Amino acid sequence: MNRRKFIKRTFWGLAGLGLFSGLYTWQIEPFWLEFVNVKMPIKNLPNNLVGKTLMQISDIHIGNRFDYKFIINSFEQAKAFNPDFVVYTGDYVSTYKDVVLFDKLEETLNNIVKGKLATIGILGNHDYGRNWSQQAVADKISEMLSKSGVKVLRNENAEVNGLNFIGFDDFWGLNFNPEKAMKGFDMSKANLALCHNPDVCDLDIWGEYNSWILSGHTHGGQVKPPFLPPPILPVKNKQYSAGQYDLSNDRTLYINRALGHLWQVRYNVRPEITLFELQQG
Ligand SMILES: [Fe+2]
Repeated sequence: MNRRKFIKRTFWGLAGLGLFSGLYTWQIEPFWLEFVNVKMPIKNLPNNLVGKTLMQISDIHIGNRFDYKFIINSFEQAKAFNPDFVVYTGDYVSTYKDVVLFDKLEETLNNIVKGKLATIGILGNHDYGRNWSQQAVADKISEMLSKSGVKVLRNENAEVNGLNFIGFDDFWGLNFNPEKAMKGFDMSKANLALCHNPDVCDLDIWGEYNSWILSGHTHGGQVKPPFLPPPILPVKNKQYSAGQYDLSNDRTLYINRALGHLWQVRYNVRPEITLFELQQG
């Protein structure tokens, strides 16, 4: 092969690779759902809950930037697991030009996955609309979720069959009140905290809390070069991208990579639904 031919072939090879990578990150990976299995040992877990499944779904981001039918299809797949608990950790919508697409959200919620024992949700920053500052949007989403059978915890607790859920309202929203959320914490119980933004883990609000914290918010960065951290993470603590973390005082953080997207681009960070298996810790 002469030099000219070599350059030409290299050029077309690279162009093809670039085109394939672009198509992959735009059309394939954003819709390539992964169910992730994680063991969840919880202190003081009642015997009757050992072996039960708790499904976490996060950041569905219903809006205009990707086909929301993907979320409904994912819900259909998730239902096959017949989970005992389902928790939703915020960001049900994305806001576009000041508009929240409530009709699409309603259609999605009509197909929502529910737990046999309980379905619990908290809000994320996007649920507070433009600049995370529209109380009416948050209240409406909360009401729609309740109507669909999701118990929404806004700095509240809910005990189900001996498992105490502590639900934080969103850190960047208008109603973040961790003191109120933590009021129901009792160390002698089995506890599980739901908190959209993992940066809250670094605030001095946890007292003696020593159990799991389930978060979303980061989407795992959506794009992650191999062996390197994701370049874009909407958190102060850049350690918090995705997966499981052992934190101080015996706390365990799990960050779900999100089911929806902010932009329809994913590379090396597939959309996730997590299936936790409850165990005695
Ligand atoms: Fe999100």
